Amino acid sequence: MKGIIFNVLEEVVVQQFSQDVWEDLIDKAEVGGAYTSLGNYSDEELASLVTTSAGVLGKTPGEILRWFGQSAMPLLATRFPSLFEPYKSSRDFVLSVNKIIHPEVRKLYAGASCPFFHFKPSENGSMTMAYHSQRKLCLLAQGFIEGAASHYHDRADVHHRECMHGGDEKCLLEIKWSA
Ligand code: HEM
Repeated sequence: MKGIIFNVLEEVVVQQFSQDVWEDLIDKAEVGGAYTSLGNYSDEELASLVTTSAGVLGKTPGEILRWFGQSAMPLLATRFPSLFEPYKSSRDFVLSVNKIIHPEVRKLYAGASCPFFHFKPSENGSMTMAYHSQRKLCLLAQGFIEGAASHYHDRADVHHRECMHGGDEKCLLEIKWSA
């Protein structure tokens, strides 16, 4: 996992809690704690930080991932304005993730292994987004979508219809956008 993800996690924790809380998490999670944005760090290191944060902050690991995704979006929008500016809604932004956003991320961060999502319109006007990754970060994806909705001042209701954590082969997120 690229260091930028750890950098943003640190920024979110320091912004919403404090530097001391971040240092404490690093100690308790028994991780290196010094991350350069272009560096590569093990997925276990992120998992350990998420599990430790959950214990310290009294949440589940899934809640931490979702909260991280929601909180990360405004910071990503500040760091990478050109990735957000072409879009007028979170729907357009999210639907560009495979073709534009993650390919741009791969150019900036060589070796980044970003997931590919399968989007499909569903009958009730919403969109389903299928996600498959060994990292099983579906709730991070959900948080990113919700954070994008806040950024564009619209609304995205996301429901997990299938989940790898529940034994399904892939995650299926149903997203209903409204103004
Ligand atoms: C709503 C839009 C987005 C969604 C749903 C999304 C989702 C995800 C997910 C779930 C991962 C975890 C990797 C995995 O599952 O295997 C990931 C990785 C990543 N994403 Fe996105 N993302 C979005 C937008 C962005 C944006 C705007 C950036 C801007 C920098 C970004 C940068 C990254 C990076 C750096 C990684 C780590 C890849 C690696 O370390 O190998 N993503 N994304």
